Amino acid sequence: STSPVQTDVSSRTPPYSRTVQKLQNVRKVLRADRHLTLAEKILYSHLENPEESLLSNTQNGANIRGNANLKLKPDRVAMQDASAQMALLQFMSCGLPSSAVPTSIHCDHMIVGERGADADLPQSITGNKEVYDFLESAAKKYGIEFWPPGAGIIHQTVLENYAAPGLMMLGTDSHTPNAGGLGAIAIGVGGADAVDAMVDAPWELKAPRILGVKLEGQLSGWTAPKDVIMKLAGLLTVRGGTGFVIEYFGSGVDTLSCTGMATICNMGAEVGATTSLFPFSGSMVPYLEATHRGAIAKAASTIVSGPAASNLLRADPEAQYDQVITIDLSTLEPHINGPFTPDLSTPLSQFKDAVKINNWPERFGAGLIGSCTNSSYEDMTRAEDLVKQASAAGLQPRADFFITPGSEQIRATLSRDSTLETFSSAGGTVLANACGPCIGQWKRTDGVGKGESNAIFTSYNRNFKGRNDGNAATMNFLASPELVTAMSYAGTTTFNPLTDSIPTPSGEAFKFSPPVGTSLPSSGFAAGNPTFAPTPGTPSPSTPVLISPTSSRLAALDPFPPFPQGDLTDLRLLLKISGQCTTDTISAAGPWLKYKGHLPNISTNTLIGATNAETGETNVAYDHFDDPNARYTIPDLAAKWKDQGKSWLVVAETNYGEGSAREHAALQPRYLGCRVILAKSFARIHEANLKKQGVIPLTFSDPADYDMLGAGDSVTTDGLYEFLKNGGKGDVGLQIKKRDGQEMRIGVQCAVSEDQAGFILAGSALNLLAKKKDI
Ligand code: F3S
Repeated sequence: STSPVQTDVSSRTPPYSRTVQKLQNVRKVLRADRHLTLAEKILYSHLENPEESLLSNTQNGANIRGNANLKLKPDRVAMQDASAQMALLQFMSCGLPSSAVPTSIHCDHMIVGERGADADLPQSITGNKEVYDFLESAAKKYGIEFWPPGAGIIHQTVLENYAAPGLMMLGTDSHTPNAGGLGAIAIGVGGADAVDAMVDAPWELKAPRILGVKLEGQLSGWTAPKDVIMKLAGLLTVRGGTGFVIEYFGSGVDTLSCTGMATICNMGAEVGATTSLFPFSGSMVPYLEATHRGAIAKAASTIVSGPAASNLLRADPEAQYDQVITIDLSTLEPHINGPFTPDLSTPLSQFKDAVKINNWPERFGAGLIGSCTNSSYEDMTRAEDLVKQASAAGLQPRADFFITPGSEQIRATLSRDSTLETFSSAGGTVLANACGPCIGQWKRTDGVGKGESNAIFTSYNRNFKGRNDGNAATMNFLASPELVTAMSYAGTTTFNPLTDSIPTPSGEAFKFSPPVGTSLPSSGFAAGNPTFAPTPGTPSPSTPVLISPTSSRLAALDPFPPFPQGDLTDLRLLLKISGQCTTDTISAAGPWLKYKGHLPNISTNTLIGATNAETGETNVAYDHFDDPNARYTIPDLAAKWKDQGKSWLVVAETNYGEGSAREHAALQPRYLGCRVILAKSFARIHEANLKKQGVIPLTFSDPADYDMLGAGDSVTTDGLYEFLKNGGKGDVGLQIKKRDGQEMRIGVQCAVSEDQAGFILAGSALNLLAKKKDI
């Protein structure tokens, strides 16, 4: 078969000889007996200057992890359409003629899932035309490959086309680590970070610690690769991976399919890990060959069979991990995670009891499989096997059943092999090759009302409140596609397909046999519809970038003002937030996605999901500086203060900004006048995004101080200006004037590197880049 794309494999092959040479250089810089993990090898051999990054702050290379500031030069950038808008607007303001590294754009987030691909796709293309026109024209001008709507979901398309062992990639989406299934270091970032790579500026990362996950044994029966990460999410919690790269090793690795490993890496985002990856293993070769990249498989095989010191694609056998968790695949049970958080992990055998104890609904309305996490040939053929078994027994799914293929290549292949027909004739709806219900673009038609408690099962990766259908009361339980499929036939949350049966129309008891699938299609991947092929990545400088001046969806960016020449005075405390505050809380998705390229318009959703710690209300704030009884929405009060020229801050609890790489969650508060977020702790990507946009993330020295603060307090920083001038060194405090007039001082921590201090002083990272370019 031919590729849907006339693949130019050379531009997609990682620069192996350069990277291997850099690895040898890294070994020279470090002590001779310093053994490296796989993640360390790939990361450190992408350093701009290994000597500078590895030896400063690290007692001469002794304690790199957690201490060194890595200044990295990634090989590639990938962006999805929602985040690409702001990334490109930022890139454009740097005034360069083309992207410095190969870059791709994938139109996947703005396509609605409702009636099926044929009806939904044309409608979404019409509805989003001006955004797609902007992205396509900018891609053409700057030499970026553009994958049009319908081509597929970014992570699946990347896996099929760009991911490769030893590659280092940045992606403007938190599930970018999916590419780790093919041995790449792929990190989810905000658009401003992607711009670093696109303008050839080093991208900075605090050297991660390495969590080794040792896999033993072999999966069987109902257990799927997804269960590895579901189990791990339960062990680590949504915060447990923060500051870590998760590196898999052990004999179990060789038993997993390449796409299964991608699923595991994809959901590493759910534990907050910087990224996840697998070593070069047997299943990567046939996957690369099947996706028309045999040359890459050959080059990678040559590296691993060469001298040990140059083996970029596997860890040194003596490498040390900061922590090791062992998972025995042979005894691993299927798991169901949720609701509302991906780390609430329940083994299938205990789920029935958990439903009763927690009073979760016994019936559920929809089962949704596929998405960027789980739409491989293996996933779909295992689900198909179950559908065939049930159809042969005369059964139909009792829950609505939706299937999202991850790419045109996988869709066309599943269509050719009649898998999709099996799903449709069982009553399933095949949605477009796009994110759809996974990102709130789901027009539910089963009559579940807003606020009505109900359950769904999905093979997606994330299950925060409101994420799928915009209803905060919908409980999304995550499971493998095969489990979601089987459970959809029962339509009850208490069904265990390993032990329970379903009555057939003829009155017999039907019990599923464990699913069987195929990891790769025996007759190769089908070519797919050529209209979904990408445009080539050759710059065409004369192409005009299409932005209508009257657009409600796109607006050119104005630079943010620089930091004042002194401390920040009389910041107004807008809101004390209680509980979880994800990037969805700060900048909701769903219908708001359409304003991603228009900062003033999207800012009207800022923090609308946040809970006011003092009143328990959601999206309610009070203007204690004017009339304390006047009730505002959070964005309305922020906008009022912006108009009055008053800057503000919010106070929050732990892991502020967890979830996605969404930089709007930093840009919007900044646009509305926020200068500081004071929290008990931050999620990594979001903390970096805040600094890039010139918002200062501060953490309490004593978390109990959270209780002392409230809306209406005035805050003046003490020592922050000096601290920034000193490149992030020194003490910072806050002088608080309570709303009853009392005064107090609290200590805070601020973790910024010298470069980040530079961004903040300049007003934003972009201001600094633009300034440097002028010089
Ligand atoms: Fe799309 Fe992200 Fe879901 S890429 S499919 S929204 S996890």
